[in-house]
Amino acid sequence: MSKMWAGRTSGITDSIADDFNSSIRFDCKMYRQDIRGSMAHALMLGAQGIITKDEADTLIAGLEGILNDLDSGALEFDMSCEDIHMFVEQVLTERLGDVGKKLHTARSRNDQVAVDLRMYLRDEVDEISGLIRDVIAALVSQAEKYKSAIMPGYTHLQRAQPITFGHHLMAYAMMLLRDIDRLSDCRRRMNVSPIGCCALAGTTYNTDRRLEARELAFDDIMLNSLDGVSDRDYCIELASALSTLMMHLSRMSEEIILWASWEFKFVELSDAYTTGSSIMPQKKNPDMAELIRGKTGRVYGDLMALLTVLKGIPLAYNKDMQEDKESIFDAVETAGMCLKVLAPMLETMKPIPENMKRAAQKGFINATDLADYLVKKNLPFRSAYKISGQLVAKCIAEGKVLEELTISEYKEFSELFEEDLYNEISLETCVEKRISEGGTSVKSVEAQIEYVKSKIK
Ligand code: ARG
Repeated sequence: MSKMWAGRTSGITDSIADDFNSSIRFDCKMYRQDIRGSMAHALMLGAQGIITKDEADTLIAGLEGILNDLDSGALEFDMSCEDIHMFVEQVLTERLGDVGKKLHTARSRNDQVAVDLRMYLRDEVDEISGLIRDVIAALVSQAEKYKSAIMPGYTHLQRAQPITFGHHLMAYAMMLLRDIDRLSDCRRRMNVSPIGCCALAGTTYNTDRRLEARELAFDDIMLNSLDGVSDRDYCIELASALSTLMMHLSRMSEEIILWASWEFKFVELSDAYTTGSSIMPQKKNPDMAELIRGKTGRVYGDLMALLTVLKGIPLAYNKDMQEDKESIFDAVETAGMCLKVLAPMLETMKPIPENMKRAAQKGFINATDLADYLVKKNLPFRSAYKISGQLVAKCIAEGKVLEELTISEYKEFSELFEEDLYNEISLETCVEKRISEGGTSVKSVEAQIEYVKSKIK
């Protein structure tokens, strides 16, 4: 069949070239935005007297009919169309005759695709922000329950200082709050209308771009028509924000995987979010967490693809830009799926405080507090640090922990040690004393929880 754009050429193309060129199999996702954009365009054309009011009404009613039919399934996409824009225009013209052919006045697919994509992605941003909130809510509810469950805090994956499980979870809640912030920042720059930029240079018709922008709930219009149809920085920004989000989810997943192992056993995952092995009967694998970690690479890949596609193309529109959609759609879908499975996995995860506590009792994670004990008795920190280190070495040599040394053994290292040191180095005291803002004490974690709750309300 000859193409809608036949004229300059016969419009008869090779079928392999057609398949290669067409984007309808993925841009059909944007049909609602495409149709809404066209309705606003028809309204503007009528308001400006570029077409008659009656024609505008006919076009809007026709578009509404197509929207309803696609929604209900009464109308199916014609995969032989080049893209969603051509499809909608073709159906409209089939249904309305010549009036349908007026819709594309003072417009190009170049500004059309840009407006569709911005509208589509701003909705996706809202959806993803909501899903991040669900994950934060799951973290907060676990943090509330386990705000005094002592576990080892790590640096270099070596036991470092005692913290609470609630404090650890709230660290991720804080990261995710920033992810929401990055997304809303990105949405703000995305929500500017390119419609009316036309092919690249604007138009000779007396259009009202601001009316169209208002109709489509954009905050503003793009002020340079070449820029309006050429840039995809909003896709790159979104893919970048999603990459950062995925990096956070991946680190969290990695910890869940470690915690669920027999080596740690800090948590037990619900059966619903694990799988078995086809050969090893004892296995309970944290596949969901592993997949989130794995899919992070995919979202990074989408960001790289977008950056690379854009880097070498001259202004204004080039067909390379059609490649934007599969990448950004994939990034958005992948992040959404990960968030959807993560929230209930966190909600149903059963922390095991006894095991956390047991791990915290080994590894001398109160050695800093032992040094601080001496500092409070006026010994300079470096000297106190040295004594504490020597006591740790003695314990290691004798297979003991700091709490097991007698007071006379302590006094061999410093006369400043008194009986009250045992209370000072108990794990509970170590945690409770860390009252600095943002620290691990229960009070501080409670303050963090209140802050985060107020942010996701
Ligand atoms: N399917 C195209 C895309 O996604 C729409 C814009 C086509 N414009 C053009 N001049 N061929 O980029």
